[in-house]
Amino acid sequence: MKAIIKFAAFAIFAASLTSCGQPTANVGKTVTSGTADIGGAYTLINQNGETVSQADALGKPQLIYFGFSYCPDICPTALQKMGAAQARIDPDGDKLNYIFISVDPERDTPESLKLYVTANGFPKGLTGLTGTPDQVETAKTAFKVYSQKVPTPESASDYTVDHSDIMYLMDKDGEFVEFFFGKSTVPEMAARINLHLKTGT
Ligand code: NI
Repeated sequence: MKAIIKFAAFAIFAASLTSCGQPTANVGKTVTSGTADIGGAYTLINQNGETVSQADALGKPQLIYFGFSYCPDICPTALQKMGAAQARIDPDGDKLNYIFISVDPERDTPESLKLYVTANGFPKGLTGLTGTPDQVETAKTAFKVYSQKVPTPESASDYTVDHSDIMYLMDKDGEFVEFFFGKSTVPEMAARINLHLKTGT
């Protein structure tokens, strides 16, 4: 039964691709897997320029979101919801690890993420991760994240990035627990995370 529920969640994956201000031409194109084998090894660079791996985030449950700092609306909305959920259930920000992983490593340098993660309404203590394109691809693959650069018509040198709009709740051992999507409300997210904090499920 659990597997079926998780499979259903992947069907929602396809509906959860977002385009950050662009027409949603890619919605529904990519369902990467029928399994819920989410998470795994990665090596990335944090906003302080330090090399980190998935092991550095273990020991506490994690909330992980993939996006990019130039995203005008979808990513800030998701990260503000993460911050609002934190305010309800973890006001000191010490019960979970809050992680933002860039899908735009060319523009999201550690230095730029250092400022980005402190944006108003984002979770306290948010970690920003980027890396080489290959490092980012490895992390995306581990979490079955879709993203694709899309040129913007206004400028040949500019682009946006279509990407999955999914927040992952992982347990303290890095095992997948739950997805949150764009439609998930802050009270729903807070209730689910709190249940996990209390029961481990
Ligand atoms: Ni975005």
